[in-house]
Amino acid sequence: MAGEPVIRPDQVLERFSRAAPTYAGHATLQQAMAWRLAQLSRRCSIPRGLWADLGCGTGHLAAALEAAHPGQQVIRLDGSSAMLNIHPRGTTTLQHDLSRGLPDWPEPPQLMASSFVLHWLPDPAQQLRSWVDALPEGGWLAVAVPVDGSFPQWQQAARAANQACTALTMPVREQLMEALPDGVVERDECLSFTQHAANPLRLLRPLSSIGASVTNGGRLSPGQWKAVFRAWPQADSSTGFALTWRMWVLMVKR
Ligand SMILES: C[S@@+](CC[C@H](N)C(=O)[O-])C[C@H]1O[C@@H](n2cnc3c(N)ncnc32)[C@H](O)[C@@H]1O
Repeated sequence: MAGEPVIRPDQVLERFSRAAPTYAGHATLQQAMAWRLAQLSRRCSIPRGLWADLGCGTGHLAAALEAAHPGQQVIRLDGSSAMLNIHPRGTTTLQHDLSRGLPDWPEPPQLMASSFVLHWLPDPAQQLRSWVDALPEGGWLAVAVPVDGSFPQWQQAARAANQACTALTMPVREQLMEALPDGVVERDECLSFTQHAANPLRLLRPLSSIGASVTNGGRLSPGQWKAVFRAWPQADSSTGFALTWRMWVLMVKR
């Protein structure tokens, strides 16, 4: 990612804060991923103790983890107070900007889980390494993050229309893997999720509705967007247009 313009954490947090009231209603992929991570976590013998959802948003992952592990509470950490204000009474929240590193936990975290967050942080590979290094022996890290190779249809449309693809640059899976110490990876898989809509604008609109619209990819004029949408490849006549996310799922045991 060297040479890419850097996105400012405060700008990212401001955009997510604005979208907080509508986030949960539109974040269907994030919800599905949270349940998947929680199901995977059931197969791991994660010690009880301090569990945290890093960049929890409205709490999809924390709630899924608590449902999968009855009796275990998950601290909901996010940089956006607007997101944290939506969490129900009785939950423990912590406002913290992850671009400054992890907070000082009152005890070592036995599980840190994070979904759809790492790509918003500066230097995701270095952040990932610092998360692993913060685990005690026997502690776990569960991460889901979109990676390079996401949005092939958007890239194809931009190329065909001779315009920039203005999607956020996603981390490269291999570079994230290289940042990890030897012998800690319990699961490493890439999953594809394809969303369909009647037109390309409807594929991209949810990104704005959930606050995920800050980008280092530049801006297009309305006319340039029209050209990109016109060039968007048709998936097939029954499903209309498609947008594919490549999601990396990582489970680490220290
Ligand atoms: C796409 S949402 C994902 C929320 C949740 N994990 C989920 O899967 O629904 C990204 C979240 O990361 C948070 N976030 C982004 N940058 C952050 C930072 N620097 N520090 C803490 N939280 C951050 C945002 O406020 C937002 O709630």
